[in-house]
Amino acid sequence: MMFDATAFIAEQTEAIRKSVPGKAIIACSGGVDSTAAAVLASRALGDRLLAVYIDTGLMRKGETEDVAQTLKELSVRHRIVHAADEFFPALRGIVDPEKKRSVIGRKFIELFEREAKTFGADHLVQGTIAPDWIESGGQLRDRIKTHHNVGGLPENMKLKLVEPLRDLYKDEVRAVARALGVRVSERQPFPGPGLAVRVVGEVTPDRVALVRGASAIVEEEIQAAAGRGLMPLPWQYFAVLLPVQTVGVHGDLRVYGQTVAVRAVDSIDGMTAVYSKIPHEVLDRISIRITNEVGGINRVVYDVSNKPPATVEWE
Ligand code: XMP
Repeated sequence: MMFDATAFIAEQTEAIRKSVPGKAIIACSGGVDSTAAAVLASRALGDRLLAVYIDTGLMRKGETEDVAQTLKELSVRHRIVHAADEFFPALRGIVDPEKKRSVIGRKFIELFEREAKTFGADHLVQGTIAPDWIESGGQLRDRIKTHHNVGGLPENMKLKLVEPLRDLYKDEVRAVARALGVRVSERQPFPGPGLAVRVVGEVTPDRVALVRGASAIVEEEIQAAAGRGLMPLPWQYFAVLLPVQTVGVHGDLRVYGQTVAVRAVDSIDGMTAVYSKIPHEVLDRISIRITNEVGGINRVVYDVSNKPPATVEWE
């Protein structure tokens, strides 16, 4: 049966209204999932909903400003919390991806609980979608990754959870977002733990700055190429900073530099994916720009793996 976004919105608005008698906050990252959930919840609850955006220091270039603008345009009551100096110390020394997710998830919840208390909310709305919990082992499957929306939740969480999108797949969420008038509805997905899972190895402000710079170039060049009709826009495209240094030349000197992997995939819902066949002239521009513009990177590689056996993210 075709998914009916309008009926879904009407149903969920009513359901949220029923399940939240008081006030709620929503964890809004500005992505399609959480923005759609925020607008839905805001339609249901009006001023009884506060959308909280946590600037973890792990976001993409310009993202915090964009999110603030989007929420304003959609008339969603919101608050921006600058918390990079809480996340980086918590992540110090951690290299295990699942540990990163759980530390970030816990920190998120801790901050939300603080905000919720100030706001007087007793419910937390989340933009969790089906692949988030299926891949976290919610359905008799081996655990693949603990997506932070699910795995990071502490057992003694005080806020009651509302997840209006939890049965939807990505294409259905996009349909809901479009029907709600959300401008970011075609935006590529971005993982909850942010750039932390795109820095393979330890997450430091410097390493995040490198991957942020490289990712911005990947996004700009791929969007420009798609706009010129050179290639279709991939489903997801970004840079990953690897924990290897390789030899390069700088003038007459041999110098060790950082390596960035470019990842671009085509997918419907993220459950399976094939790598995008990006034209070499586009890869060429990406490589030249990253090595020229992002200090310390001397090597760019292109990831030609499909999911399975790889995953979309490297961590
Ligand atoms: P993987 O790497 O599992 O990615 O093939 C599938 C989709 O899920 C996103 N992803 C995440 N989203 N929290 C999220 O909210 C996470 O921890 C997480 N890990 C991966 C990934 O970007 C892709 O769209």
